[in-house]
This record gives sequence, structure tokens and C-alpha cells, in this order.
Amino acid sequence: MNPFTRDKIWIALFSLALLATVGFVYYRQVAPEWKDYQSEFREMVEKKYGAARAELVPAGIQQIWVKELNRVDRCTTCHLGVEWKGMEGAPEPYRTHPKDVLTAHPIAKFGCTVCHGGQGYATDMDAAHAVQAEHWEEPLLGSELSKTYTVSDRKLLMQENCNLCHRYDRETKGADIINYAKQLVAQKGCRACHTINGRGGAVGPNLTNVGELSPEQYDYTRLGGKESVFAWHLAHFKDPKAMSAGTVMPNFGFSSRDAQALTLLVMSWKKTDLPAQYIPGFKQADVPSPAEQEKERQMMTGEGAFFVRKGCFICHDVSVFGIESAAKIGPDLSIAVADVQSRFGRQLEDFLAHPTGTMAVVLSTQIHLTDEERAEAINKLHQAYDRKQAQQAAKPAAKR
Ligand code: HEC
Ligand code: HEC
Ligand code: HEC
Ligand code: HEC
Ligand code: HEC
Repeated sequence: MNPFTRDKIWIALFSLALLATVGFVYYRQVAPEWKDYQSEFREMVEKKYGAARAELVPAGIQQIWVKELNRVDRCTTCHLGVEWKGMEGAPEPYRTHPKDVLTAHPIAKFGCTVCHGGQGYATDMDAAHAVQAEHWEEPLLGSELSKTYTVSDRKLLMQENCNLCHRYDRETKGADIINYAKQLVAQKGCRACHTINGRGGAVGPNLTNVGELSPEQYDYTRLGGKESVFAWHLAHFKDPKAMSAGTVMPNFGFSSRDAQALTLLVMSWKKTDLPAQYIPGFKQADVPSPAEQEKERQMMTGEGAFFVRKGCFICHDVSVFGIESAAKIGPDLSIAVADVQSRFGRQLEDFLAHPTGTMAVVLSTQIHLTDEERAEAINKLHQAYDRKQAQQAAKPAAKR
């Protein structure tokens, strides 16, 4: 072949390839992913309701700008059916949104990502759902992340976001797993050792904003499997010592569901810069109930008042004095005199002067006893023990 002809063929082929590439790039510009979704939605509406209504389907990028939340959410560019009636059975992204939750939270005021996570400004699906998100981004709390966390029900994860705003509620309709976790926190007496929303002890770290800690702040060396804050908490709740050797946090024998619920709850405890009108019950809840306050007042006036005043009753019953702990994290102190001897091989006086285990942490972080107060504690504990002995001695006598 004549070399001149051969060059011409090469040039022609090269030009064609270039044209094809430019054409494809151009096509993606005028027809990005979302355009296909919009035309498909328009066809669905036309088939179902006729051409007139199909005209009403918006064209172009849609966005919800919520100034107060500092969010621009473009999810409705594809999720076009959110506010339509009659699209309940349509496939995603065209389905009508479950109605009740949007009645309580109109999208003009809330957008989408405060609840769902995801990258609000993105207009292609992978970026919007942030499936490959770096940890500083907010991934969509949906199917993909549920797989990563091995949470069987993908709808549970979103409840973590509900509680960003609803943290002061005792109960939030539609956030069952969070409600359950809040019950556990009350029943197990986590506040005996942790401050939560400004109330509680100092034996463990303050948990009010524990959800803020970044993944680098956790030690994963004892964690098998995928490293994430979620996995760390899960393992820590199931067995605190497994993740944090030497901790005094008790093993409560939590089931997987308990641990999952508590993990979602503690991860929701974040500092938010949301305006107060977005936080129901802001700074109102989280005070002891009237019944709790009344009981405390009664115990304050009895023989065991010392144990209430010094906060021992948060973890200990002193049953002979009618002192009842809600949490019961430590043993009943009515028999401490003998029990310390048999468990620690030491006198009570020595134990309180040089405590070990949980009491070492309690008396160095949460409760300060002066020498006089320590003497009073010892005195009261002996009094309690004598009372208990007398009661037991009286029992067989009563039978006779
Ligand atoms: C480019 C189009 C597009 C955009 C933009 C988009 N989505 Fe989607 N979305 C889809 C499609 C398609 C599906 C169904 C297929 C799938 O789940 O992979 C879907 C499914 C979903 C689901 C259900 C699936 C799951 O994982 O639970 C949720 C929730 C969702 N999107 C929320 C959002 C939110 C929030 C935004 C905005 C941050 C958003 N989407 C932006 C296209 C989009
Ligand atoms: C106040 C919180 C909240 C807001 C705001 C919100 N959603 Fe939802 N969304 C929910 C809840 C709750 C569900 C129902 C989950 C279920 O079925 O239990 C849901 C369901 C969905 C689903 C169906 C996914 C599935 O699990 O099957 C999609 C898609 C979706 N929302 C997209 C959006 C989009 C797009 C916006 C913004 C226009 C938005 N949502 C705004 C809370 C919210
Ligand atoms: C950005 C903050 C925010 C998020 C996120 C949020 N909510 Fe709300 N929610 C509110 C506000 C504010 C109200 C209105 C409270 C009022 O009127 O007193 C409300 C109202 C409600 C109500 C009605 C309460 C009543 O007493 O009428 C329910 C139920 C509810 N939310 C459940 C949820 C669920 C479930 C989620 C998660 C899917 C969620 N919320 C996410 C802020 C939020
Ligand atoms: C007897 C005291 C005690 C009780 C009761 C207790 N904890 Fe702890 N907790 C600790 C101590 C001490 C630590 C710090 C060492 C560690 O990580 O275990 C801790 C750590 C934690 C952490 C990790 C904090 C972080 O910095 O990431 C969480 C979350 C937690 N506790 C939640 C709970 C919950 C929820 C309950 C109730 C079910 C509870 N704790 C009950 C003492 C306690
Ligand atoms: C945050 C919870 C907590 C508080 C508050 C607390 N304790 Fe304890 N205490 C415990 C736990 C848990 C044990 C069990 C010790 C162990 O196994 O390490 C214990 C053990 C004891 C014992 C040994 C009892 C026995 O039968 O072996 C005495 C005595 C005691 N505490 C006295 C007190 C006094 C007095 C106060 C108040 C000044 C107090 N404690 C406050 C958690 C607490």
C-alpha cells in the first residue's frame, strides 16, 4: 500500500475514535443519570394518569434548601414520587414516601439527609448514597451500610439519626430500637457511672457527646473482623473487659439485640448545632420523675440518710435501712461487714481506706469521703450489720 493512503486510513480511524469519545462525554453532559430517571418517571405518570399530568413532572435538577439545617438536598431530582399520591407501589426511586413521617417533618423544613444520611448535593446515585463514603462523609443509612454493620434490618440504622433531635424524648413513635435502648439505660442504671445529658456519675466517661469520637480514637487491636466504631461498641457492650481490659464497667449479659440497640443509641449522642426548634423537648426532659424524687426525699429522712446524701444508694441497697438502689450495681451493704471479710480477706475499715476494684474508681472519681465521713460510713455499716443479725436471730424465735 502506498504510505500516503495508509496514513490517511490511520487519521480517519483516529478521528472517528475521538469523535466517539467526545460524543459520549457530550451525551453524559446533556443526559446525566438523573435525566433517564426523570424521563422514566414521566412515562410512568403518562401511562397512569395521562399526558396532562405528565407535563407536571418537574425537569432539571431539583433541590430542597433548608437554611436552618445548612443543607441542600437534591435527592428529589431522582426520587420524584416522594410527595405524589398513587405511586405507593412504584419501584425506587419513584415511590411515594411513607406519609406519617413527612407529616410530622415536612420536607421543606427538613430535607432528606437529616434522617437518611447521604450526600445531599450529589446528583448521581453512588455519590448521593455515598456508598463508598469516607468516614467524614455521611453514608446513606440503608441497605449497603446495614451489610457492613451486619444489621439484619436496614431500617434500624436510620433511627440513630432520629435521636439526634429526639434525644430528650423518653419515647419516640417510629424509633422502637432507640426506645428500647433508652429503657435499658434506665433499668441498668448506666447513670450510676456515666453522666448523660448533664445528669449522672463520673466513674466512667461522660457519654453526652460520645457519638462525636472519631474512629481513630478507638483501639481495635482486640476486635476481630471489620474495624468500625459500631463494631467496637457492639463488642464492648457484650463484654466490656474484652475491649477495655481492667474496666470496671460490668458485663450486663446483653443479647445481640440489646447491644445493637445500645450501640445505635450511644452513637446518636452527638453535639449538634441544630437550632432549638428542631430539638423537641430541648433541655426539658432528663430530670428525675416526681415518683423518683419523692422516694429519694423519704430515704433522705431515714436512718440510712448518709448513704443517700453521699450517693452510695445509686449503686447499693442498704435494705435494713429501707434504702433501695434503682441500679443495684454493687452488693447490698447490710452485710458488708462480713462480706468484705470473706470476699477480700480484709476488714471493712481497711477496705474503705484502701479500696480495690470498682470502689477504688468510685472513691477517686465520683465520691470524696473525708476522714470523718469514712468513719461515719464504717459506723453506719456496723449498725446495719448488727440490725441484720438481730433480724435474723428474731426469725426462728418467731416460729416457735
Ligand atoms: C441519580 C438518582 C438518585 C439520587 C440523586 C438519589 N437516589 Fe436514592 N435511589 C435511587 C435509585 C435508582 C434507588 C433504587 C435502587 C437502589 O437502591 O440501589 C434508590 C434507592 C434509595 C433508597 C432505598 C434503598 C436503601 O438502600 O435503603 C433510599 C433510602 C434512598 N434512595 C435515599 C436517597 C437520598 C436520601 C438521596 C439524597 C441524598 C438519594 N437517595 C439520591 C436513585 C437516586
Ligand atoms: C423525618 C425523617 C425523614 C425525612 C425528612 C425523610 N425521610 Fe425518607 N424515610 C423515613 C422513614 C422513617 C422511612 C420509612 C422506613 C420504613 O419503612 O420503616 C423512609 C422511607 C424512605 C424511602 C423508602 C426506603 C425504604 O426503606 O424502603 C425512601 C426512598 C426515602 N425515604 C427517601 C426520602 C427522600 C428522598 C426524602 C427527602 C425528600 C426523605 N426520604 C425524607 C424518614 C425520613
Ligand atoms: C432534624 C431534627 C429531627 C429529626 C432528624 C427527626 N425529628 Fe421527629 N420531630 C422533630 C421536631 C422538631 C418535631 C416536632 C415536635 C413538636 O411539634 O413538638 C418532630 C416530631 C416527631 C413526631 C411527632 C411527635 C408528636 O408529639 O406529635 C414523631 C412521631 C417523630 N418526630 C418521629 C421521628 C422519627 C421516627 C424520626 C427518624 C426517622 C425523626 N422523628 C427524625 C425533629 C426531628
Ligand atoms: C460501674 C460503672 C459503670 C456502669 C454501671 C456502666 N459503665 Fe460504661 N464505662 C465505665 C467505665 C469505667 C468506662 C471506661 C472504660 C471502658 O471503656 O470500659 C466505660 C465505658 C463506656 C463506653 C465507652 C465510652 C467511650 O469513650 O467510647 C460506653 C459507650 C459506655 N460505657 C456505656 C455504658 C452504658 C450504656 C451503660 C449501661 C448499660 C454503662 N456504660 C454502664 C463504667 C460503667
Ligand atoms: C458507681 C457505683 C457505686 C457507688 C456509687 C458506690 N459503690 Fe460501693 N461498690 C460498687 C461495686 C460494683 C462493688 C463491688 C466491688 C467489686 O466487686 O469490685 C462495691 C463494693 C462496695 C463494698 C464492699 C461490699 C461487699 O459486700 O463486698 C463496700 C463496703 C462499698 N462498696 C461501700 C460503698 C459506700 C460506702 C459508698 C458510698 C460512699 C459506695 N460504696 C458507693 C459500686 C459502687
